[in-house]
Amino acid sequence: MNILKLDDLTVEEINEILDSATDFKKGSKKVNYNGEKIIANLFFEPSTRTHYSFEVAELKLGCKTIDFTTETSSMKKGESLYDTVKTFESIGVNAVVIRHQQDAYYKELQNINIPIINGGDGKQDHPTQTLLDLMTIREEYGKFEGLKVLIVGDIKHSRVAHSNIRTMKRLGMEVYTAGPEEFRDEDLEFVNFEKMIPEVDVVMLLRIQRERLEEEMKISIEEYNKNYGLTIDKVNKMKQNAIIMHPAPFNRNIEISDDVVECSKSRIFPQMTNGVFVRMAIINKVLENR
Ligand code: CP
Repeated sequence: MNILKLDDLTVEEINEILDSATDFKKGSKKVNYNGEKIIANLFFEPSTRTHYSFEVAELKLGCKTIDFTTETSSMKKGESLYDTVKTFESIGVNAVVIRHQQDAYYKELQNINIPIINGGDGKQDHPTQTLLDLMTIREEYGKFEGLKVLIVGDIKHSRVAHSNIRTMKRLGMEVYTAGPEEFRDEDLEFVNFEKMIPEVDVVMLLRIQRERLEEEMKISIEEYNKNYGLTIDKVNKMKQNAIIMHPAPFNRNIEISDDVVECSKSRIFPQMTNGVFVRMAIINKVLENR
């Protein structure tokens, strides 16, 4: 079984993964592979949270881990992604986690016979980020149906936004988007950020994905911060029990003010904590289905 995008899972399966992650977090579910399973983490793009929370999750499950770097691999000699992953399969690795800059890189990997877990592909999907976001929201509200989420910033280049919008709508959430013209997706209606703030249960901020910009930004950083940055003044206009989320890494004082990062409404670091348990649930799911 692969976990490539959440569109491949039913709502029931998504909720089962969240239940499993919650049980791992509470300690009511314990699994130990006693070093008998080996997971290779293949990150072709920089990552801190996804890479190392996968590694922590693998270690907590008693798996052995292999870290891969392009620089010291035979990819430097021209080996393809397929041949690299096929090599890990051939030498006895039980599953791979892959982050890659190419949209749907996994289409090249259809003849791989070990589970592939997508740690983020191009601008398209980040399934484990969406799951940890959902876990954080469910912990807060105990439900998804009817909740209003406002996603703000560089929607166009964000795999987190694309993955979240599709899945959250399937779960019955109302998803709104806001941001500068140049970061909009044509098929999404954008709302006025400030006007929408008092209406929503979750304000989710995004980083400007500089590494994926095709050309220079039209809006200046100062204008961006003024119009789309979440400042404490704007936080004070949020509903009393509304929360702030961000997949991170975040740019302090650009999309989020320094004093908002760890304010009482912020769930940014709890999101990271939940990432470990969601990834334990995913690894366990793919290994137990072997
Ligand atoms: N949220 C997220 O994917 O962070 P990293 O790029 O550090 O993994």
